[in-house]
Amino acid sequence: VKRKPFTPLYRCLFILCSVVAAGLSIGIGVLIGKNVRYNQELPNYQLDYNDKIRQMVFDEIQTTNIKKNLHELTVKPHEAGSHQDEVVLVDSIEKTWKSYLDKVEIYPYNVLLSYPNITDPNYVGLLHPNGSVTMKTNFTEKPLVKNEDQPGVVPSFLAYTPSGDVSGDLFYVNYARVEDFEELLKLKVNVTGAICMARYGYIFRGDKIKNAEKFNCVGLVLFSDPYDYGGNSYPNSWWLPPSGFQRGSTQLHGDPLTPDYPALDLTHRIQEIETNLAKIQAQPISYKQAYEYISKLGGAVAREAWQGGMNVTYRLGGSFEHPHKNCKAEIHIGNVNVLKKIHNVIGYIKGWQDPDKYVIIGNHRDAWTYGGLDPSSGTAVVLEVARAIAGLVRDGKWRPRRTLVFCNWGAEEHGLIGSTEWTEQLEKRLLLRAIAYINIDIAVQGNANLWASATPTLYSAIYNTTKVVPNPNIDKISQNRSTVFDTWLYKKARNVNLPPIGNLGSGSDYTTFLQKCGVASVDLIYSFDERIPSYPSYHSLHNTFDYMENFVDPEFKYSKAVAEVAADLMMKLSSLPVLPLSPNDYSAKLKSMFQQFNETNGEFLNANGIHLTNLESTIDQFKEAAEALTNAAEKLNVESSDAEIRVINDRLFEIDRGFLDFKGLPGQQWRHVIFAPASHNSYSASGFPGVTDAIYNLQHSTGTLDEVRQQLSVLSLKILSAADLMKGF
Ligand SMILES: *[C@@H]1O[C@H](CO)[C@@H](O)[C@H](O)[C@H]1NC(C)=O
Ligand SMILES: *[C@@H]1O[C@H](CO)[C@@H](O)[C@H](O)[C@H]1NC(C)=O
Ligand SMILES: *[C@@H]1O[C@H](CO)[C@@H](O)[C@H](O)[C@H]1NC(C)=O
Ligand SMILES: *[C@@H]1O[C@H](CO)[C@@H](O)[C@H](O)[C@H]1NC(C)=O
Ligand SMILES: *[C@@H]1O[C@H](CO)[C@@H](O)[C@H](O)[C@H]1NC(C)=O
Ligand SMILES: *[C@@H]1O[C@H](CO)[C@@H](O)[C@H](O)[C@H]1NC(C)=O
Ligand SMILES: *[C@@H]1O[C@H](CO)[C@@H](O)[C@H](O)[C@H]1NC(C)=O
Ligand SMILES: *[C@@H]1O[C@H](CO)[C@@H](O)[C@H](O)[C@H]1NC(C)=O
Ligand SMILES: [Zn+2]
Repeated sequence: VKRKPFTPLYRCLFILCSVVAAGLSIGIGVLIGKNVRYNQELPNYQLDYNDKIRQMVFDEIQTTNIKKNLHELTVKPHEAGSHQDEVVLVDSIEKTWKSYLDKVEIYPYNVLLSYPNITDPNYVGLLHPNGSVTMKTNFTEKPLVKNEDQPGVVPSFLAYTPSGDVSGDLFYVNYARVEDFEELLKLKVNVTGAICMARYGYIFRGDKIKNAEKFNCVGLVLFSDPYDYGGNSYPNSWWLPPSGFQRGSTQLHGDPLTPDYPALDLTHRIQEIETNLAKIQAQPISYKQAYEYISKLGGAVAREAWQGGMNVTYRLGGSFEHPHKNCKAEIHIGNVNVLKKIHNVIGYIKGWQDPDKYVIIGNHRDAWTYGGLDPSSGTAVVLEVARAIAGLVRDGKWRPRRTLVFCNWGAEEHGLIGSTEWTEQLEKRLLLRAIAYINIDIAVQGNANLWASATPTLYSAIYNTTKVVPNPNIDKISQNRSTVFDTWLYKKARNVNLPPIGNLGSGSDYTTFLQKCGVASVDLIYSFDERIPSYPSYHSLHNTFDYMENFVDPEFKYSKAVAEVAADLMMKLSSLPVLPLSPNDYSAKLKSMFQQFNETNGEFLNANGIHLTNLESTIDQFKEAAEALTNAAEKLNVESSDAEIRVINDRLFEIDRGFLDFKGLPGQQWRHVIFAPASHNSYSASGFPGVTDAIYNLQHSTGTLDEVRQQLSVLSLKILSAADLMKGF
């Protein structure tokens, strides 16, 4: 037993457990003695993680607690900057965590938040030739069930869009993607100086505004089309009611006044005029009100794919039909920007061996309205995970080798602000010492299967974890789908043996961990499998506890499954002697990304005298280094010293740091050259973003061939840099 390499995960666990058991049974602690020398008072069973410890923590995690947490978190609206969020919930989470974690810290920041002006309502209106405005859209949503009418629900607005009045001809521009505007240009539809109206879906709303600006619109109206969100509506079903609308932010870069730096009191603040915030007026409206506008539009009939779910023929617009022929559309915005204090609550369970290495889990606390799903379903889960793990520590059953960090972020909805400021403040520490970041925003938005997006070194650990978490849908267990993994595989991919894991773009708090600090990251959510952009009540008044309980996770068993996935990942990442990270999965991913990239761009580049041989060869060198590191990790065994193990662990967790370009991707604050938010859709990830953008710019006559060559070389150099980090002496 002693001689056998204890290579990855379960084999290693099994052998270590056998060793521990043997040591205990013959009454001597020689074998494990060397492992505890940093902390002699720890009993033997605290050393590692095994099936038994896992079962204990799974048994600790209770659906009733998650439900109770969610109920308490969602009694009132809790927008960033509000008393309910920054005082009541911060105090309550701090107090709760102080009762069972080793340490709790509050990180406050002074940041620029955006709000509508309650006494100066935002609206979209129909402007008549005589100057009067009719058909003004509603500022607030209609409460439809009890408890939805608490004060403090923020009315309709898009955070950080400027105040002012603007009017013009109205055009319907489908989803306001670049390709939608380009299609209009081909049809000789000129939206210069006009107000455009687009449906939500496909891309980040902030990018819709950027596109509208780029194509010279003076204003943008966004609506949730019933094709994407509607149907037989709430409260009879989970579909968005005609009066509901989606608020949201238009930026994802943290505090606008302190880019790259934490918003502390001593920090210099730039002027608002120097920021990259939206420049045109924009406003979200409900589909009941969108109908009033779409149904009056003149112009050519939009093609089939542009027709939405309302009972009307969608036209491209440019004018209104009789009797509104001489009318224009108007947008009035009264939004104000205010400096406000926001707070992150950070709790710790100290690692017994390596307290300065961090396994981090995070979730945001602030919600646009009640937070039933987004984000309080995640907060309810993270609170329960922290309590359950801390329970094992308190009872002396287990303690991690490395420190567990529980993060409760403020002001995510306004633009990932709490997590961005924190990673900017602790940037060097995270770069050097963070092992992994696990993000849970909305924990559950459906009951079909898990969705995971992650960096490749975590793939294998994620699959292994989901193979030991029971399928929350008991009916399916009898159909041989006994685990979360089985149901994920079944739903997602019938003809392969691993379900797909997505790439990380942006849209939640993992962004700066990966983009600024190169920390291996995963985003977890239990989801639906319908063709819709999000759960229908997303960012609306109806994002409530009732909505969760009636339509999403009535028994909180999907929430429990997400809690178990998170707990298992955290516990193994923080306590297995050799980190469960897989460099070979990164080389496989690079290889497949290369093939895809070559398929899309190879011929075009070839025709321009650019060849991909260097890139291909650096990926091969990465692969060699990854294999060598994997072999070195597999050679570790119970006789390996802590120093020998630590040398390998450092090389395992640092890989993504190699991919950071500290100069930043061109025109972006992002640094990761393999995965970064796509420049035309920040929600999704672009593979090889620097080169991909350079090629796009070249093809759209806004960039040069030389920029493509340069980005290609940066990409190859950073792949070599990541390979270099995996190499030993
Ligand atoms: C809000 O609107 C009211 C009414 O128009 C105005 O008097 C007030 O100055 C506005 N508040 C801010 C902060 O701009
Ligand atoms: C302006 O025109 C609209 C539409 O024709 C009409 O309803 C309204 O009464 C007029 N307002 C004034 C002040 O004339
Ligand atoms: C669109 O209209 C603006 C002025 O209304 C004009 O300056 C611009 O050249 C037009 N663009 C195209 C592509 O026709
Ligand atoms: C808009 O507001 C009006 C007046 O308060 C109300 O009668 C109507 O039901 C609201 N419409 C929607 C779609 O909320
Ligand atoms: C929707 O269209 C159908 C068929 O054209 C029509 O009978 C119905 O009245 C329309 N409903 C609405 C609300 O316009
Ligand atoms: C479950 O698996 C067993 C053994 O592989 C097989 O006999 C049985 O038909 C399967 N049941 C279902 C519902 O697929
Ligand atoms: C996942 O489990 C497989 C099979 O037990 C094992 O070979 C692999 O190393 C595990 N992955 C990680 C990252 O521990
Ligand atoms: C890249 O694509 C070209 C065709 O565009 C093909 O000839 C070549 O074999 C591909 N290279 C690799 C490594 O797949
Ligand atoms: Zn969220």
